[in-house]
Amino acid sequence: MSGLIQTDEALRWLREEDPQRLEELWQRADELRRDHVGDEVHLRGLVEWSNRCSRSCTYCGIRRENQELLRYCLDDESVLRCARYAKERGYGTVVIQAGEDPALTPERVERVVSVIVQETGLAITLSLGEQPLDALSRWKRAGADRYLLRFETSNQALYEAIHPPASHGRPRVEQIADLRELGYEVGSGVMVGIPGQSLEDLASDIAMFQSLDLDMIGIGPYVPHPHTPLGVAELQSPTMRPEVRVELTLKMVALTRIALPLANIPATTALSTLNPENGRRLGLMRGANVVMPNLTPRAAKSNYTIYPGKFGLDTEPEDLHKSVLALIESLGRRPGVGKGISRHWAKRHHQEGVFCS
Ligand code: 5AD
Repeated sequence: MSGLIQTDEALRWLREEDPQRLEELWQRADELRRDHVGDEVHLRGLVEWSNRCSRSCTYCGIRRENQELLRYCLDDESVLRCARYAKERGYGTVVIQAGEDPALTPERVERVVSVIVQETGLAITLSLGEQPLDALSRWKRAGADRYLLRFETSNQALYEAIHPPASHGRPRVEQIADLRELGYEVGSGVMVGIPGQSLEDLASDIAMFQSLDLDMIGIGPYVPHPHTPLGVAELQSPTMRPEVRVELTLKMVALTRIALPLANIPATTALSTLNPENGRRLGLMRGANVVMPNLTPRAAKSNYTIYPGKFGLDTEPEDLHKSVLALIESLGRRPGVGKGISRHWAKRHHQEGVFCS
């Protein structure tokens, strides 16, 4: 079956409302998932290092202007402890995420990356926002394997309306290209249901995933945050119901699996936030093959509120871990072993003649 999808076909699916016809989409995505990335569900231990952020994204709850939350930055030892915990639980990867916090200097991140690599041998994914090229290069040399930076929406005007001008003079898409050059496994993604975003924009997002040739793609519903400008406007006069955002997100996950069958695609926390009962399960059934249990210590993570009502805030890592394992088992799937390298990335490197194990 074709690994590519045309924008007009994606758009037709995004407009489709008939549950029976949609069943075809779900099945096609699930088959492609099984045939290309198998039944393994890769677990990534998420550590939210710092919720301090120097940026003013209008949608994000940790934007610098929001004073309604306690700010924290974990000390390096706490980050290491989370990595050790991930290792003990058999995860192959730790994802280190933070706002753009000036306290996380290139040297400090480099040190932490090196120690985690040496001590645990885990694959390391960084998600530290927009960063200068020399920092990205330094972290790669220190042993980071992957980097996540969502482009949020392919609609340039919408992007500029909700996002401050680029840090370091480099738009996100340029940074994504740099990450590829540096040899990272590259992850990006979008929010679904941003006020002002059209179905055409979402279809273009899929085309952009293909043209950026992404290895990992995170897709989550936009969740209005009451302490952000965009969230205030959306809560006052809603543009979309949460169920519609969930349904559209699932369609985007399925279409993305069709577009890039070898990519790693998580069932995102935002999806579980808008549908705590079934969000993650439906994501995994409709194209996703990755889950990112949150390992951040509970006191800290309750303040990493990029959006409100975040799934799993009151749950200890151990219980989150158990519930994820139970979910995977109930789907007749199995937890991934090893680092869970993106097959999309491995295939490209193989074609380029670069050795990878
Ligand atoms: N709703 C959903 N996702 C959000 N993000 C930030 N704010 C929100 C929100 N209000 C997502 C962005 C960002 C990622 C870390 O979190 O896509 O890239």
